[in-house]
Amino acid sequence: MIEIPVRSGVSLRSLRQRDAAAMHQLIIDSRTHLDRWLRWSAALQSVDDVSEFVMMFEKREAEGAGFHLGMWTEDGLAGGVVCWHIDQLNRNAEVGYWLGATFTGSGLASAAARTVVGYLFESVELNRVEMQCGVPNLRSRRVAERCGLKQEGIRRESHWITDRFVDHVMYAALCKEWMDELDAAT
Ligand SMILES: CC(C)(COP(=O)(O)OP(=O)(O)OC[C@H]1O[C@@H](n2cnc3c(N)ncnc32)[C@H](O)[C@@H]1OP(=O)(O)O)[C@@H](O)C(=O)NCCC(=O)NCCS
Repeated sequence: MIEIPVRSGVSLRSLRQRDAAAMHQLIIDSRTHLDRWLRWSAALQSVDDVSEFVMMFEKREAEGAGFHLGMWTEDGLAGGVVCWHIDQLNRNAEVGYWLGATFTGSGLASAAARTVVGYLFESVELNRVEMQCGVPNLRSRRVAERCGLKQEGIRRESHWITDRFVDHVMYAALCKEWMDELDAAT
């Protein structure tokens, strides 16, 4: 189980089977907002679908191959930070994030994603962390940029999102850049 504090009243904790109903409700309440940009939400229609999705990440977490952390606030589950895969050989990982529509606009996703990037560099000792954002998904791109990742290029039609292929921007940070930034900030 991964548990990481983010800021006052907000923490990240691995999603588990018992969270499936809360996650399902959050997805239903934000269906249009999420399905527009996420590669996975449209496939999750029932609590059982969500349960299976959560289980897949439980397995990845147990193998050190990825994880899905819920963003927990005083108002319950607000969203999540997904680590799709951890490539142990090349010491890199890909991170994504999502929020229920009513939780946007308060810096929650940027703070949580930044916390996870720091965790992957400092605790998992990775060399590179990637984020891929739909080219027109400007809110998501701002999160990646606020986390200090650099734009590397465009992957044309790299992901099928709900009902169409979407070009994605590849953002990445390297551990040495991250540590240099931390040094500069202290
Ligand atoms: C992508 C997504 C998580 C971004 O949500 P968000 O609310 O814009 O991101 P944050 O929680 O970091 O909030 C940032 C906003 O809060 C504002 N804000 C308010 N208080 C803040 C604070 N203390 N710190 C930082 N930002 C703050 C910022 O100004 C910013 O708004 P702006 O972009 O209009 O300037 C959200 O739009 C979403 O869930 N979209 C659907 C799923 C998705 O696209 N996921 C990414 C797939 S690649």
